[in-house]
Amino acid sequence: MKIRGSVYFIMKKYLIQTYGCQMNEHDSEKISWILEGMGYQLTDDREECDLIIFNTCAVRKSAEDRVYGQLGELKDLKRRNPNLILAVCGCMMQREEAREVVLKKFRQVDIIFGTNNIHKMPQLITRHLETGQTIVDILEENREIEEDINANRKYSYKAFVNIMYGCNNFCTYCIVPYARGRERSREPENIIKEIKNLAENGCKEVTLLGQNVNSYGKTLDRDYRFSDLLRDVNQIDGIERIRFMTSHPKDLSGDLINAYTTLNKLCKHLHLPIQSGSDKILKMMNRKYNIDDYLKIIDKIRNAVPDIVITTDIIVGFPGETEEDFNETLDLVKRVKYDAAYTFLYSIREGTKAAQMKGQVPDDVKHERFQKLLDTLYPIGLEQNEKLLGKVVEVLVEEVSKNDEEMLNGRTDSGKLVHFKGNKDIIGTFVNVKIDNAKTFTLEGTIC
Ligand code: SAH
Ligand code: SF4
Ligand code: F3S
Repeated sequence: MKIRGSVYFIMKKYLIQTYGCQMNEHDSEKISWILEGMGYQLTDDREECDLIIFNTCAVRKSAEDRVYGQLGELKDLKRRNPNLILAVCGCMMQREEAREVVLKKFRQVDIIFGTNNIHKMPQLITRHLETGQTIVDILEENREIEEDINANRKYSYKAFVNIMYGCNNFCTYCIVPYARGRERSREPENIIKEIKNLAENGCKEVTLLGQNVNSYGKTLDRDYRFSDLLRDVNQIDGIERIRFMTSHPKDLSGDLINAYTTLNKLCKHLHLPIQSGSDKILKMMNRKYNIDDYLKIIDKIRNAVPDIVITTDIIVGFPGETEEDFNETLDLVKRVKYDAAYTFLYSIREGTKAAQMKGQVPDDVKHERFQKLLDTLYPIGLEQNEKLLGKVVEVLVEEVSKNDEEMLNGRTDSGKLVHFKGNKDIIGTFVNVKIDNAKTFTLEGTIC
């Protein structure tokens, strides 16, 4: 299918505002590639835009509210520049309720599309330009995987690579399976080809993306698993670090643990969302593992890779969560000693099972528990970072620090963020940094 270069070639300016996870960030890189093929040029100034796209996230109500707020702000801009095209896409647009809100309250929006039909964007823009109508094009489900879309990646030395799409897990709180459809894996040959190409163009680090990477391969017509993919990516010349997001504890098998010990490029970091420390809540969440199973995995992986960094996701205030359940979450955090955690207040998502559950936790209780959780997590995170004091770590230099032009940011193999003084010429290279100072979220050091 011809996706690029099919519409018109005038230098027009565009901007994409991206919300949500890495999946969305990478979709925006694909959208950007399509637009540049149509002759659009990136700008960061809304005032000079011919096209503004909001790539939205639906995972929590707060993410959706932010989009509504921003769309409201654009009313005035649209009045001043009637030729401006406003498009909204992404996970939120897969939800009928959210589409209706946008169509009713934000009449300045010209094009709505979803997560399954990014490739149709040139046609949608043309249709809007030809008819002047609001175009809504949603594909509820896409079993096909579009292999013809490339991506304008933000960095040359690191890249996101989709290995699978969708999710079949239906955790009872989560909108993602509704927004992203059923799980489907990309053919390994296509993934390998993409990564080889990236490596030939200077990419050193890849992050393999999927909602549940451990179940990679289930939709393929042969026996080829995530650990097989890791092994094959590990052999690609030029790639020096392999990361992945996200793995589900219910599918974390021995072959993945072995991969950590046998594959030299696999980064020593495991992000393993626990969500709650209470077996009762895990059951209500439909997570399909219990705390005992989870702790066994943690013990196995720490035995195999003693210095592995472990991070997690935790939801506070799931329906029915009592003080006792919550205390079990605090106990688990102390037991596992996470290096870091993404923490969330439970947010009701219409259409999910948990939205119908009795025992919704009042906001003030959620906030109080949330604060207690942070107070437990932070000292542990600091303690874990302090273990690196005085040590020399290898860092991939990523960018100039936002607050200080003389400082650079980089990441250790285990994913920790390090600040150090240096010249921007070394961005994209590996350097050794001696850690002089440890904070809760970052490390500071000196190149040596
Ligand atoms: N597929 C990934 C996560 C995708 S969403 C996984 O399973 O790990 C990222 C995180 O958002 C989830 O891990 C969960 O902690 C959080 N989350 C999802 N739905 C939520 C909701 N309704 N309220 C609060 N947090 C939520
Ligand atoms: Fe959501 Fe669960 Fe799927 Fe993750 S595994 S995307 S939390 S349903
Ligand atoms: Fe990601 Fe948000 Fe969609 S977390 S998959 S962008 S709902």
